[in-house]
Amino acid sequence: MEKNTLTITDNRTGKSYEIPITDGNIRTMDLRQIKLNADDFGVMGYDPAFLNTASCRSKITYIDGDKGILQYRGYPIEELAERCSFLEVAYLILNGELPTPKELDAWVDLVTHHRMLHETTKSFLEGFRYDAHPMTMLISTVAALSTVYHDARHIHDTETRRLNMVRLIAKMPSMAAYAYRHSLGFPYIYPDDLLTYTENFMTMLFKMVEPKYVAHPVLARALDILFILHADHEQNCSTNVMRSVGSSLADPFVCTAAAASALSGPLHGGANEEVLKMLDEIGTKASVPAFIEGIKAGKGKLMGFGHRVYKNYDPRARIIKRTAEEVFSVTGRNPKLDIALELERIALEDEYFVKRKLYPNVDFYSGLIYQAMGFKPEMFTVLFAIPRTVGWLAQWEELLLDSEQKIARPRQVFVGHALRHLPEVKEREHAPVGR
Ligand code: SDX
Repeated sequence: MEKNTLTITDNRTGKSYEIPITDGNIRTMDLRQIKLNADDFGVMGYDPAFLNTASCRSKITYIDGDKGILQYRGYPIEELAERCSFLEVAYLILNGELPTPKELDAWVDLVTHHRMLHETTKSFLEGFRYDAHPMTMLISTVAALSTVYHDARHIHDTETRRLNMVRLIAKMPSMAAYAYRHSLGFPYIYPDDLLTYTENFMTMLFKMVEPKYVAHPVLARALDILFILHADHEQNCSTNVMRSVGSSLADPFVCTAAAASALSGPLHGGANEEVLKMLDEIGTKASVPAFIEGIKAGKGKLMGFGHRVYKNYDPRARIIKRTAEEVFSVTGRNPKLDIALELERIALEDEYFVKRKLYPNVDFYSGLIYQAMGFKPEMFTVLFAIPRTVGWLAQWEELLLDSEQKIARPRQVFVGHALRHLPEVKEREHAPVGR
C-alpha cells in the first residue's frame, strides 16, 4: 500500500523521520522535529523569494506555468475574456461562481452606485505636485479612503467587509481618473451611473468640453478584456503583500494601498511602463538585434519577458496580442508594434531566452494598446491596479476566512555576529562596514 509520506534520514544523527504528504506537499513545520539534540531549534526550510514555498491553500486562481494555463475558479481565461464582462468575472472571483442574470444585474447596480468619491479626495489630490506620478497618487488616495470609512476596521463583520470591498472596486477607476486629470491640470469629471464600468472610466478620464463623451465600443470592450486578464494571478508579489498586511487585521484600504505599492515596482506591474520606455530606446526594428545582444551581455532585462511561474507563453499575452489588432483597427496601428513583434520573433528563437524559458508576459503588449488608446505610460500600472483590486480583495477575504491563517511572521537564518560586548569609544578601531 503506497504511503503518503516522506522518510527523511538525518545523517548527522542517523535518525529517520516520517513526514506526511498532503496534496503532494509537506508542511514545513513538520521539519522542526529534525533536531541534533533536545535544545536544537530544529530544521527550517530556507527559501529566499519563496521560489518553492506555498503560503496558503487557495481556490481562486489556478496557473500551470509549464503549459501556459490560467483559470479563475476553474474557468479558462480564454473563455472568460471572450464571453464575459469584467464585473461578471469580478463576481466569479469574489464569490466562486458565475452570477445568474438577476445576480449580475444586482451586482452591477451595487458597484455602479459606489463610484462617487468623498469631496475631500479632491483637496487631498490637490496636495500633489502637477508632475506627481499617477500610480503614487493612486496608492496614497487608496490609503486615504481609510480615513473616510471608519467602519473599515470591522473586517470580521461580513456585511461591512463586503461593503468596503465594493467601495474599493467601484472607486478605483474614479480615483485613477482623478489622479490622471490632476496630472494634466484638467477639472475632475463626476461618475455617470448610466454608463458601464469601463465606459464610465473612459468618460472620467477623457471628457472635455463636449456635452457627452462617448467611449468607442471597441475600445471600451478592449479595456474590459484587459481588466479581465489582469484581475487575479494567484500568489504574485503584490497579492503576497495583500495577504501579509491583511494577516495583521489591517483594514482593506491600507492593505490595497500596500499591494498597489508592490505592483508599482518595475519587475512587477510597473513593467508595462518599462516596456514602452524600452521600445522607445530601441527606436527602430533594425536596432533590435543589437539590443538583444546587449541584454544577453547582461545590460538589463528584456522588459515584458519572463515570469516566475510561466515557463511557456503567458496565455494573457496571447489574448492581448489579439486584442491589440482590434484596437489598432480603430486607433490606427501603433508603430512600436513592429519593434515588439521583431523583439518577440528574435527572442523566441535565441538560445539565451529559450534556455531560460523566457516568453512574453502580460506586460509585453498591454502598453502598446494603452498608448494607442491615448493613455500616457505613467498610467499603465494604474490600469493594472484597477482590475487587480478584485483579485487582491478576493485573496484577502480568503485569508481572513481561512482558519489555518494567522499573522505572517517568517523566520530567518541568522548569519551575523555571535555575542560580543560593547568596547569604549576610544578603544574602537575602524572596521570595514559589513551590511
Ligand atoms: C508581472 O508573479 C506574477 O504572477 C506577476 C504577474 C501578475 O499577473 O501578477 O504575472 C505580473 O509582474 C509579470 C512580470 C513583469 N515583469 C517584467 O516583465 C520584468 C522583466 N522580467 C524579469 O525581471 C523576470 O523575468 C521576472 C521578475 C518576471 C521573474 O524573475 P525570476 O522568476 O526571479 O527569474 P530570474 O530573475 O531568476 O531569472 C532567471 C534567469 C536569470 O538569468 P541567469 O542568472 O540564470 O543567467 O533568466 C534571466 C535572469 O537574468 N531573466 C531575464 C529576464 N527574466 C529573467 N533575462 C533577460 N530579460 C528578462 N526579462
